[in-house]
Amino acid sequence: PPLAAMLNTFDFESVARETMEPQAWGYYSSGGDDEITLRDNHMAFQRITMRPRILVNVAEIDLRTSFLGTDSSLPLYFTATALAKLAHQDGEVAIVKAAKKAGVPYMLPTLSSYTLDEMLAARAPDQVCFSQLYVNPERSRTQEYVEKLEANGVRALFITVDAPQLGRREKDMRNKFTQQGSDVQGDDEDEGEVDRSQGATRAISSYIDPGLNWKDMPWFRSITKMPILLKGVQCGEDAVMAFEAGLQGAVLSNHGGRQLDTCRSGIEVLPEVMAALDEAGCKREDFSIFIDGGIRRGADIFKAVALGAKACGVGRPVLYSLASYGEKGIVRMVHMLMDELQMVMRLSGTPNVASITPEHVITRNLADH
Ligand code: FNR
Repeated sequence: PPLAAMLNTFDFESVARETMEPQAWGYYSSGGDDEITLRDNHMAFQRITMRPRILVNVAEIDLRTSFLGTDSSLPLYFTATALAKLAHQDGEVAIVKAAKKAGVPYMLPTLSSYTLDEMLAARAPDQVCFSQLYVNPERSRTQEYVEKLEANGVRALFITVDAPQLGRREKDMRNKFTQQGSDVQGDDEDEGEVDRSQGATRAISSYIDPGLNWKDMPWFRSITKMPILLKGVQCGEDAVMAFEAGLQGAVLSNHGGRQLDTCRSGIEVLPEVMAALDEAGCKREDFSIFIDGGIRRGADIFKAVALGAKACGVGRPVLYSLASYGEKGIVRMVHMLMDELQMVMRLSGTPNVASITPEHVITRNLADH
């Protein structure tokens, strides 16, 4: 179908399911084990109801915001996802360009299909990117990578902490089995560090150090001036520990339901984390909280912001809109979310991002901690 026929992010997902290579679809769409968390990520947002205010002047709605010193068209960024070339030959380069056009930051993945240099070169002169870091068992490699990011003006470092071992993604595993068993020729796309002959998920595992722990944090602080955030925090205690370790923030994330199954969605963890940080005397400006996982509607972004998130990450919606429509598809996907968020803000009586508060949503149906 033509791009103009896409009405929401789910439409992109349906088209991607029909048109992507089965192996690529399996890798992108799969979650860990029984995929309970994967399914709940979006559903958790539906357990939060709206509490709109009336008779506020909503003639003008301003979606713009800023986080980690970076302006954005709305409280949204593209999160890191490995191997974008499985979706489209332009891969991460198209995502960098779409991020610029849509006016949102992109978190460059460590395990990209294009090289870091190629991704950096695709940026517009004034474009700000973040970076996602998988920590290598060989720390000198990680240090070199981090120094290169900083030298190239990358604005923030997100260390992924929820993947000391990669989750069991059975859809992905079955596809690999079929591929090897039937001796189908692999495509010969260049995938950088990742050896496809071992299967994407297994090859990625060997790259990540399961020994990474809190004692490593001072070392990270010593090798870079970039703000450091932890991606994959799941409870209040760990957010407070990150704050006390001198880090700058956390992403409440379950890796898109791909790691520990039956853990909570980011939105469900958010009230616990905000309460714990307040109790620890952490000021909102000193430690930034983000969430990702299951963000599919403008209303989801509204709810996350209401509960204290600075912005939300989208993963699969970027890959799915890229898969069928390239860079243009991604830009359109963001514009849909902008239109939706604008409407939700208008109907809630919140003309700008700063006016969205916890009183605009009801969370009593979220799991208590
Ligand atoms: C991911 N994610 C991820 N995270 C990370 O820190 N490093 C990585 O290399 C990847 N790779 C990756 C590949 C694919 C195909 C997916 C779907 C996800 C997790 C990602 O950053 C984010 O947490 C989720 O994608 C958010 O959920 P949604 O938006 O996909 O529902």
